[in-house]
Amino acid sequence: MKTLLPLILALTVIPSLASAQDLRLPAPQKTGGKPLMQALAERKSTRQYANRDLDQQTLANLLWAAYGFNREDKRTVPSSQNRQEIDLYVFLKSGVYLYDAKANTLIAKASGDHRKTAGTQEYVATAPLNLVYVANLDKASNRDAACIDCGFIGQNVYLFCASENLVTVLRAGLDKKALSELLKLNANQEALYNQCVGYPPVP
Ligand SMILES: Cc1cc2nc3c(=O)[nH]c(=O)nc-3n(C[C@H](O)[C@H](O)[C@H](O)COP(=O)(O)O)c2cc1C
Repeated sequence: MKTLLPLILALTVIPSLASAQDLRLPAPQKTGGKPLMQALAERKSTRQYANRDLDQQTLANLLWAAYGFNREDKRTVPSSQNRQEIDLYVFLKSGVYLYDAKANTLIAKASGDHRKTAGTQEYVATAPLNLVYVANLDKASNRDAACIDCGFIGQNVYLFCASENLVTVLRAGLDKKALSELLKLNANQEALYNQCVGYPPVP
């Protein structure tokens, strides 16, 4: 049995390294941060990022601020006819995940670093976190409403970043075909926007 142990361990560990794992996030912290007026005063777009990853608590807080549930079936953002048609994909160095806000979990969709597929500008791949907002047009009341709903999510991310001394930019420049292939989207799902998030560049 002792001699078989390394082999058994290898067989159980290797598949888990080869594929991305779902990631249960810490409970989001819903207090603190800068006063709203100060966050508004500091909100801005930034396209340079320090080479530093977000810790899991900050990621959980950011995702809840962006698109979490603040009531039984409603979220931190409004949504046209409460259709909640936006899916939020999370691109990290370790993989690509779908944010499941109810379960507070990142559901693994692809392993490895796909940040450069998240957007078309060079700086995109240098941000430790990229969010991609995907509309399910079967659910949406119409495409314009889906774009507006993304705007609310994007602004929540801007304000959270201003409050937490993170930096961000919302972007429309996407390779929709590449994203559709990577995320295995169906014909009625469309990647609408990308938002880069990170720490400010070190001067
Ligand atoms: C719908 C939308 C699309 C945008 N697309 C891009 C983009 O593709 N690339 C980019 O670098 N910035 C993009 N931006 C960011 C704007 O350029 C930025 O908000 C604007 O220059 C004002 O700067 P501020 O956010 O610092 O106030 C976009 C902003 C919005 C609202």
